[in-house]
Amino acid sequence: MSLVVFPFKREDPGNLLKNVKIASAHPRVEEVLCVGFEEDDCFRTLAAAAPKLSKEQGKPVKVMVQERLGELRPGKGDGMNTALRYFLEETDHQRLHFYDADIVSFSEEWITKAEEAADQGYDVVRHYFPRASTDAMITWFITRTGFALLWPKSVLPWIEQPLGGELLLTREAARGLLADHRVRRQSDWGIDTLYTFSMVKQGFSLYETYMGVGKLHKLYGALTDLKTMLVECFAAIQSLRGIELTELSTHQVEFPGPVPPEVKEKLGYDLERTLPLLCRDWTPEEEDLLALFPPEVRAGMEACRSFPKFSFMDEEAWRGAYEVLLDNFQLGQPHWESLLFRLWVARTLNYTAQHALRGYDHALYYLHQMIWRYARLGLRR
Ligand code: DGY
Repeated sequence: MSLVVFPFKREDPGNLLKNVKIASAHPRVEEVLCVGFEEDDCFRTLAAAAPKLSKEQGKPVKVMVQERLGELRPGKGDGMNTALRYFLEETDHQRLHFYDADIVSFSEEWITKAEEAADQGYDVVRHYFPRASTDAMITWFITRTGFALLWPKSVLPWIEQPLGGELLLTREAARGLLADHRVRRQSDWGIDTLYTFSMVKQGFSLYETYMGVGKLHKLYGALTDLKTMLVECFAAIQSLRGIELTELSTHQVEFPGPVPPEVKEKLGYDLERTLPLLCRDWTPEEEDLLALFPPEVRAGMEACRSFPKFSFMDEEAWRGAYEVLLDNFQLGQPHWESLLFRLWVARTLNYTAQHALRGYDHALYYLHQMIWRYARLGLRR
């Protein structure tokens, strides 16, 4: 039997309550736990509703504030690790499901499909779903790119949504993750990267189950909305550099279904509000850092100070920039964080203009081929 966990922070309590009810009504689910970042309005609404829900469903529905477990910015990582600890120390359920609190299309099928794959013996089941061609820009240009450049022979580059927050863990996999000190330390947005890396490092078998309905989560405005996530996801990859993968994970991916037109036509971010981010607020310190980068990157970024430029930031230029970032980036150093963000914006805009504009099918094919090329080429040195 299973525990379902929703980590949350300032969510719409109506949607989260709906998801909690769906989860607790599932026959495989024995308990539902909501882990809040803090005691915000959403937390209070849920905490007030929980006793009645528990009574109606005849199984516990609990709400708790996340513990301070890690060493980085307190965020989603502390929330997920609080749940891991609760699951292992306070319960004897066999499986743990995580779902992001903002899924609008949540249904019992998300739980059923994960349970079915776990019944087949997989240690970890990860949900994946179709995403707009200009969504998932951290996934493609930071996480999958980094996995391909650094661990090309592992299954890591081929995991469809390595930052996905919807997954099932068996007790053994949960125990393995919590025992990993790097996972416990990662209190911020880097947690998804760390879970993914740790489960592969420990050789757990992975199944990726396809949810055709997608997640229909909120959309982003300018890419600035993603800056903290971007910086923390990159720093997470950087912190793992040099670790060797010796265990062999098996990895099976359910064949995807047709992609709904809403996803194919959706725009991932606001282009007009993003373009000025390339030019605005350069500091002399940030400009100095450009000296570390390959000539084409340096020249392109220098030109950005007066006009948004991005045609230079193609796949190869990004490989060069990524390598310099791996060697030099400093988390918590504002000039580095700003430059990483700008470089990634340039890469995202380049891809949008060169590939996403040519249509969904072309774009997704391009992205997958790009990962293959990075895995073949590796780092430049
Ligand atoms: C990603 O890149 O996957 C992030 O969720 C932003 O879309």
